[in-house]
Amino acid sequence: ARKIIIDTDPGQDDAVAILLALASPELHVLGVTAVAGNVPLALTERNARKILELAGRADVPVFAGCDRPLSRPLVTAENVHGQSGLDGIDLPDPTMPLQTGHAVDFIVETLRREAPGTVTLVPVGPLTNIAQAFRNAPDIIGRVQQIVLMGGAYFEVGNVTPAAEFNIYVDPEAAAEVFAAGAPLVVMPLDATHQALTSRDWIEGMRALPGRCGPAIASWTDFFERFDKEKYGSQGAPLHDPCTIAWLLRPDLFSGRDINVEIETEGRFTCGMMVADWWRVTRRPANALFIRDLDRDGFFALLTERLSRLP
Ligand code: BDR
Ligand code: CA
Repeated sequence: ARKIIIDTDPGQDDAVAILLALASPELHVLGVTAVAGNVPLALTERNARKILELAGRADVPVFAGCDRPLSRPLVTAENVHGQSGLDGIDLPDPTMPLQTGHAVDFIVETLRREAPGTVTLVPVGPLTNIAQAFRNAPDIIGRVQQIVLMGGAYFEVGNVTPAAEFNIYVDPEAAAEVFAAGAPLVVMPLDATHQALTSRDWIEGMRALPGRCGPAIASWTDFFERFDKEKYGSQGAPLHDPCTIAWLLRPDLFSGRDINVEIETEGRFTCGMMVADWWRVTRRPANALFIRDLDRDGFFALLTERLSRLP
């Protein structure tokens, strides 16, 4: 199985991403590292443990990472995810322990211990932990198999400012460092994730699953959906973060281009903007596979098939 570390700020869509990975035998989740993002770190690490316990997977270690961006105050998104970050269903307080080490050290130690090119990082929150790991241990950059991240946008531009997507906006310095690092990148931007909109039928299918995970997913998605309908008038909620895991499982469901992607860290109106050279109008070298489209029906069929395996 392909070894992954999920770096996350749960988040209802983060939760579905984690569950999708746990339900997939092609993936071996070495650990879940929490970062401050949608809500503060004390909540994201707790939420990560709640999700693992829901899945009956207290064996997967959870580490707390950076509690704020590299050089800015934290911006959170309770307006989207609720006060807990995981509103929609009240899960019991986690009983599995939080690991004592720091998430950044876990990332560094894991990449040094495992054979080079065999560990994939899946960041679905701000990129603070990843950038800090690369700062602390530049030797690990060349050992990363791939970084498959959710963040940014090109045609869809922004969801937190007119120019910027949330994960990049919260810590643009971290994102800029990760995009400049040289590790192979796959970017799942809003352009793709806004096609991964839940339907009423799909949510009801989740609610009808016999286990406890399906109804939880339905409740989370209901909560998340309400927000997007009110704000954008869109049908359904975009399952942003699960797109990364789905790409690892079924890259044939996605299409994109190898292009140059840079992160704006200064602009007065554009700080946190992802500058994706989709039309290849610069000579800057490609540093990322930028996904633009996905097969919506295939994506949701995959999710249904996998999530129905959970307890
Ligand atoms: C991203 O921001 C978070 O609110 C979601 O979990 C997702 O990772 C979408 O912009
Ligand atoms: Ca997230």
